[in-house]
Amino acid sequence: MMRKVLFASSEVFPLVKTGGLADVAGSLPGAMCALRQDVRIILPAYTEVLENIGRTRCMARLDMPQGEVRILMGSLPGTSVKVWLVDYPPFFARTGNPYMGPDGNPWPDNAERFDLFCRVIVEIAMKRTQLKWKPDLIHCNDWQTGLVPALLSLEEQAPPTVFTIHNMAYQGLFSHSSFVALGLADDLWSHDALEFHDQLSFIKGGLVYADRITTVSPTYAREIQTAEFGYGLEGLLQHRSKYLSGILNGIDTDVWNTETDPHIIEPYSVRNVEYKQLNKKALQQSFDLRKSDVPLAGFIGRLVYQKGIDIILQAIDALVQLPIQLVFLGTGEEEYEQSLLHFARKYPGRVAVNIGYSESLAHQIEAGADLFLMPSRFEPCGLNQMYSLHYGTLPVVRNVGGLADTVVNTNAETLESGQANGFVFSGERPDDLVQSLRYAVKLFDNDLVWKKLQITGMWRDFSWDHSAREYIKLYDQLD
Ligand code: ADP
Ligand code: GLC
Repeated sequence: MMRKVLFASSEVFPLVKTGGLADVAGSLPGAMCALRQDVRIILPAYTEVLENIGRTRCMARLDMPQGEVRILMGSLPGTSVKVWLVDYPPFFARTGNPYMGPDGNPWPDNAERFDLFCRVIVEIAMKRTQLKWKPDLIHCNDWQTGLVPALLSLEEQAPPTVFTIHNMAYQGLFSHSSFVALGLADDLWSHDALEFHDQLSFIKGGLVYADRITTVSPTYAREIQTAEFGYGLEGLLQHRSKYLSGILNGIDTDVWNTETDPHIIEPYSVRNVEYKQLNKKALQQSFDLRKSDVPLAGFIGRLVYQKGIDIILQAIDALVQLPIQLVFLGTGEEEYEQSLLHFARKYPGRVAVNIGYSESLAHQIEAGADLFLMPSRFEPCGLNQMYSLHYGTLPVVRNVGGLADTVVNTNAETLESGQANGFVFSGERPDDLVQSLRYAVKLFDNDLVWKKLQITGMWRDFSWDHSAREYIKLYDQLD
């Protein structure tokens, strides 16, 4: 029997994306479908999604307290994976991102918006809609879907749920008055339920009530059970540790493929990794960096504390002496953006910065850079270090979360065993990063060793197939 899985996410690439969750939701369902699962994605019908999805059909109309909600069906562009959209224009027909308005502030009605999203999923799960397709299991992702397991716990004969944590730093916390306004059952207001220090916590709905909890790397699954990474929820996670596991994300090897990447100047592969050099030259040119042979290190990401961007900023003066060139692509906190622009002015030709969001530039940086900087303070999985490994761009990372699970530090022993594929440091002082890069820059002169490191990364299988099988094994436990 083909299992029917409803995969719920608040963002899905290429329909709408703010970070890695979209990449996962855009490729894991397809990988599971290839393994004979019938997976459908559900997400809100934001304006941007409706613009990107093409043709849709209305499959059902639901009478919710807010008014009529339509379920539209379309498919994930370029695939046959079916997508259901929860269409309620007063909540989702807005320009801006799924969580914030153009002014950078969270939408004031986020609790109501994602409560409605969850309640519609519950209606589908409980087969109370006109839809003919009935899910056997609901796979929820992050706090925006956290109320689903909580609400299903109040129903008879509800299907089982899996809740995947992509980031413990975002919990969906709202006031007690929101809890009341949402009309949630009184029983849910307790420390054992949705209450967290007098606030309503959406993520707790997943952590307390889901049948299985997963997170996106084995190391992060251990880390979140400690005070340093658990944000006060470590006790709950320890309590549920029997049901908690880490499954490493994969990457979409159709979108990230050095041989077919439409965004890059020169295709390359393990057979001719030296062609990567042409992409480096093109990158230097487009960013007004000097045409020089010094190693070029890239950074792509949200400019927030999580990503350790402040560690890089404090290290820049020392880094440019190594010597090294730096290229940054990102948006985020104003202070970090301004500071990056300051260094671009201070070191013209050596430090280049693009404050913005661009899929195309992200591909060009991955293909053109020699090194990739990812000194994250915490990193549930991280996709960019995997894109880097796949593109022969050696990652320089802190030993946390998914970074620790994918990057093997280079030293005499790991070089000898053929496992080395990048540079891993601990500590969070700028000098820890500088030391690691100093070593990398030294190795860069040794063509043979460098090529060996690149090829080790490029050979590793990061496709979704393996992880998809792990999720299916987990689903099997719930049949
Ligand atoms: P997170 O989800 O914490 O932001 P990940 O490494 O899992 O981190 O995923 C980030 C994703 O977003 C990657 O696909 C990355 O390339 C992309 N990304 C982040 N910032 C930018 C940007 N400014 N331009 C293009 N892509 C970006
Ligand atoms: C989150 C995490 C990131 C992870 C992504 C996809 O945004 O910050 O580490 O790769 O989700 O799971």
